[in-house]
Amino acid sequence: MTLDAIRTVAVLGAGTMGNGIAHVFARSGYNVILRDVETRFLDSAIETIAKNLDREVKKGKIAEGDKPKVLSRIHTTTDMSEIARSDFVVEAVPERLDLKLSILREAGKLLRPEVILASNTSSISITTLAAGTNRPDRFVGMHFMNPVPVMILIEVIRALQTSDETFQTTMSLCERLEKKPVAVNDAPGFVSNRVLMPMINEAAFAVMEGVATAEAVDTVMRLGMNHPMGPLELADFIGLDVCVDILDVLYTGFGDSKYRACPLLRKMVAAGRLGKKSGRGFYKYER
Ligand SMILES: NC(=O)c1ccc[n+]([C@@H]2O[C@H](COP(=O)([O-])OP(=O)(O)OC[C@H]3O[C@@H](n4cnc5c(N)ncnc54)[C@H](O)[C@@H]3O)[C@@H](O)[C@H]2O)c1
Repeated sequence: MTLDAIRTVAVLGAGTMGNGIAHVFARSGYNVILRDVETRFLDSAIETIAKNLDREVKKGKIAEGDKPKVLSRIHTTTDMSEIARSDFVVEAVPERLDLKLSILREAGKLLRPEVILASNTSSISITTLAAGTNRPDRFVGMHFMNPVPVMILIEVIRALQTSDETFQTTMSLCERLEKKPVAVNDAPGFVSNRVLMPMINEAAFAVMEGVATAEAVDTVMRLGMNHPMGPLELADFIGLDVCVDILDVLYTGFGDSKYRACPLLRKMVAAGRLGKKSGRGFYKYER
């Protein structure tokens, strides 16, 4: 599939990432088919997109008249067969290998042969996913960052099977979204989580060992290293359960004890202190 032939993009999953991905494609002029399993998820995605567009209007990022145009480009559906007319597909369903494989197989059967399938997984092997589809050479990782409309980076991950053409088209497509694509080969955690998660883990160890409080660790990293957010505040934002899951992927993927998840993180997850989403993690949040 050539870049210019891509007009309609299907986004599978309308959750945190899916609504952001639909937003940025529609904002860049693409028609979007946003698919989820229930209408209520789609309604809430459109509500979120509308709110985020309002924020962009306020900030002067888009003109007021652009909001209805962007929204009109997003078609929502619970019917998977509607994705048959799409020219590019981004999968953003929950992080479960079995679920992703079954959706990618179902999508592969519906799509024209030349259509590229991309996954937004944060930790599953792109090579494994590619092997489970009917188009391994037209399969690629497209790792958007949260919140998608704001964050510039996209890690573009090459599976062992990804063709040069698929890779180049995807890189160029990211630029059309006014994002910065960075090429990464498939390896556990790619680059983002391989570098970020050990830092978060080490920060948690420092708290567990009584080296400093969470506030002190975060202050050192914010004021001393110029990070906009401390690692523990960031961990709360990502979700401590998600952090532990990703550390486990690194631990098993590399077979290296340096990725062993901090016992304090596991304990907090067991207690339901998952971070911002549960109202309490390293910090407390108003709900
Ligand atoms: N949340 C993040 O910060 C983040 C960042 C980068 C990548 N990711 C990755 O993005 C993916 C999605 O994560 P999320 O945080 O948006 O999850 P989420 O739970 O917010 O959203 C997933 C959506 O997929 C829907 N879904 C489930 N089965 C489906 C199906 N068969 N067809 C279509 N939709 C279906 C769910 O109803 C839900 O709305 C995961 O692979 C995750 O690892 C997440």
